[in-house]
Amino acid sequence: MEKPNCDDSAKPADLNVSNISVQMVTPPEKLPVRKPPRRPPRKPIGKVKLKKKKVKKVPFWNIQNKIILFTAFLIILAVITWTLLWLHISQSESKDAFYFVGLFRIANIEFLPEYRQKESREFLSVAQNVQQVMNLVYTTSAFSKFYKKSVVADVSNNNEGGLLVHFWLVFVVPHAKVFCEECVAAILKDSIQTSIVNRTSVGSLQGLAVDMDSVVLNGVSSFKLCYKGCAHDLYADHPFQHFPLEISATSGHLMCHFKLTASVGYLIRLSIVSLQIEADNCITDSLTIYDSLMPIKSTILYRICEPTRSLMSFVSTNNLMLVTFKSPRVRKLSGIRGYFEVIPEEKCGSTILAKESIGFEGKISSPYFPSYYPPKCKCTWKFQTPLPSLGIALKFHNYTITKKNMKGCDHGWWEINEHMYCGSYIDHQTVFRIASSVGHVQLQCSSRLSDKPLLVEYGSYNISQPCPARHFRCSTGLCVPQARRCDGINDCFDESDELFCGMLKPACNVSAFQSQAPLVCDGFRDCEDGQDEENCTQRIPCNNQTFKCGNDVCFKKKNAKCDGTVDCPDGSDEKGCSCSRTASSLLHRIIGGSDTQEGGWPWQVSLHFVGSAYCGASVISREWLLSAAHCFQGSRLSDPRPWTAHLGMYIQGNAKFVSPVRRIVVHEYYNSQTFDYDIALLQLSTAWPENMKQLIQPICIPPLGQKVHSGEKCWITGWGRRNEADSKGSTILQQAEVELIDQTLCVSTYGIVTARMLCAGVMSGKRDACKGDSGGPLSCQRKSDGKWILTGIVSWGRGCGRADFPGVYTRVSNFVPWIHRYVPSLL
Ligand code: ARG
Repeated sequence: MEKPNCDDSAKPADLNVSNISVQMVTPPEKLPVRKPPRRPPRKPIGKVKLKKKKVKKVPFWNIQNKIILFTAFLIILAVITWTLLWLHISQSESKDAFYFVGLFRIANIEFLPEYRQKESREFLSVAQNVQQVMNLVYTTSAFSKFYKKSVVADVSNNNEGGLLVHFWLVFVVPHAKVFCEECVAAILKDSIQTSIVNRTSVGSLQGLAVDMDSVVLNGVSSFKLCYKGCAHDLYADHPFQHFPLEISATSGHLMCHFKLTASVGYLIRLSIVSLQIEADNCITDSLTIYDSLMPIKSTILYRICEPTRSLMSFVSTNNLMLVTFKSPRVRKLSGIRGYFEVIPEEKCGSTILAKESIGFEGKISSPYFPSYYPPKCKCTWKFQTPLPSLGIALKFHNYTITKKNMKGCDHGWWEINEHMYCGSYIDHQTVFRIASSVGHVQLQCSSRLSDKPLLVEYGSYNISQPCPARHFRCSTGLCVPQARRCDGINDCFDESDELFCGMLKPACNVSAFQSQAPLVCDGFRDCEDGQDEENCTQRIPCNNQTFKCGNDVCFKKKNAKCDGTVDCPDGSDEKGCSCSRTASSLLHRIIGGSDTQEGGWPWQVSLHFVGSAYCGASVISREWLLSAAHCFQGSRLSDPRPWTAHLGMYIQGNAKFVSPVRRIVVHEYYNSQTFDYDIALLQLSTAWPENMKQLIQPICIPPLGQKVHSGEKCWITGWGRRNEADSKGSTILQQAEVELIDQTLCVSTYGIVTARMLCAGVMSGKRDACKGDSGGPLSCQRKSDGKWILTGIVSWGRGCGRADFPGVYTRVSNFVPWIHRYVPSLL
């Protein structure tokens, strides 16, 4: 039996193309044999009497002959070796090996504990049987020429009954040939003969009773099948007992896999306590959790690409799980600390009778809460209130549901009283109200992967008056006291309580602004007369609402750092702010002009995808850039390897510094349907050199929660299209001056402008960003110190430059803590 455990002749890790191909060698054409030149026949010469000389007979095996023979033998050996080597190399260059890994369920064979022993007669006989069936399937298919072999790797029990067989296949294909990977799975599925009469998914695969619905087969890279020296096969049968899963290396690389099996009828919950890996979008380091015993792509439950110290747990859909840990580079510390446990299957959903009293009274959650919930879930909750005047309110934690449109849902489908909604994760609570005394709520998982746990509070509410008296109803569904509307505090979480408040600044009198605490000393003149920003240098006790100056004196403004105003007596709040940029070098700019001056926007970056300009970005530190999440949407675009960052560039393609991208961090709440949280960080593979400071400079990140003022003039820059109808971007970096537009006005234009967005442009249209500018900066110069602030990131808009439809930008001031989480050096 051949096992993928690296000690076999055809083992995947060692199984490189060359040692397969030897058998595929076609005999070289016969070399023409060189005939010796014909000699003219010798003329017979006169009989010469030869005097028989008495020659001394020399023995054949004398030293001289032995040397000659030995040399000849060595030469022949060398020629043979060389020829074989040449054939070997030439063949390996022209053949590709394709590996596949898969599983299916055999319905009519009972599991025997002996199947766990790979050397047992029982295992070998099942394996041989399956291998023969696979040989038959593929040698009689269109791929027979390429099929090399199949190997059964595991035979296990499972919650569906019968046997679950994990196997891998090898195909060897001439190099130039295109190999249809999907066809391999299709051949297998098509070979299962199911009958429509008995309406079951179990059919006959060359005599084996195989469940059609259980078949999964994916291509795999050969190295994934082999984890030399670090393979663990763990079996657990005591529910809720913690079985440790720990591995660490203080030096050297780590490549391990853990095959976890629970007793039949149970599931496996894996809990990760801490994970130390290098963060690079799973290119080198990763922890992958599979819902099977082999690394089958389509059974991935979750992949962790970043180090973590917070507890995360995942649940399988069957009694099996594979965990692969990859950290191949030699570094100081890598490892995983966690445990797994056997848990019973959980039914989700229930019937709930709400109380007559108004308010939230209970909680429902996603299956296996607080674990990530597995794919393929379906839960139904039936709510009933005691009175027809009472409806059902659902308060979603860090989650929201919106009407489903033509696109599918990414994070859960919700069917509520026959209406469909899509769920998405956000950073605040939302309330959904069902204006009926009966609520039929169904959640269905939509993601192929496990998803973040969901917690929902429920209760009854008064249908005719959803919010209590003297309360304002936010667009997040929350209710906030009327008195808190337009007070500058984001009580609704989406700022809907701060919209439509009138465009004028309040004329504050002393008592008014003192009661409106957030207006005071926040660096902005919120009051017309500027009273809120007077007397702001008083020393106050230090707490988490203050900024600690160098001499341990605290200043009232929490965000005093690098805000352009010297607040600390020793100026420590404004030290080390490397993003500074004075206005002087920009004086020569022509307002309204289009071409920039070379070096005028030293933070502007052009991001190239597979060699072509695709998006913009801004330099915020020596190795980090800020861009838009929508530039990296989808599996190809989210892979950092095809991307390069072009810095210090004026003419497109002529950058002063180019670096590959090491890592892309897309905001976890980015919503591809609404463009909410449209922000991403990019880490460069190589930091830009200090001596390029003249041409490359970071732009400042705004202070947290910085308020912007409508009418303020800012700049947008990029190599994007200059016209909606253009087919390509511009060669020279373009600039345009735009105005920040009042949020209320923008919400009334577009409707779907969230608190993470801001609008800028000119209402007449004409000055705007366009396709290709995405991710680029909306730069605003602070009057107080001339520093340039990255106020926005080019995100979306209706068309480009259309009247009444300004550009929409990501509001960077909402993401300061998120940026600092990845770029602490900015602090
Ligand atoms: N999403 C666009 C891009 O891919 C940018 C759109 C900006 N549109 C606008 N009208 N401001 O580059």
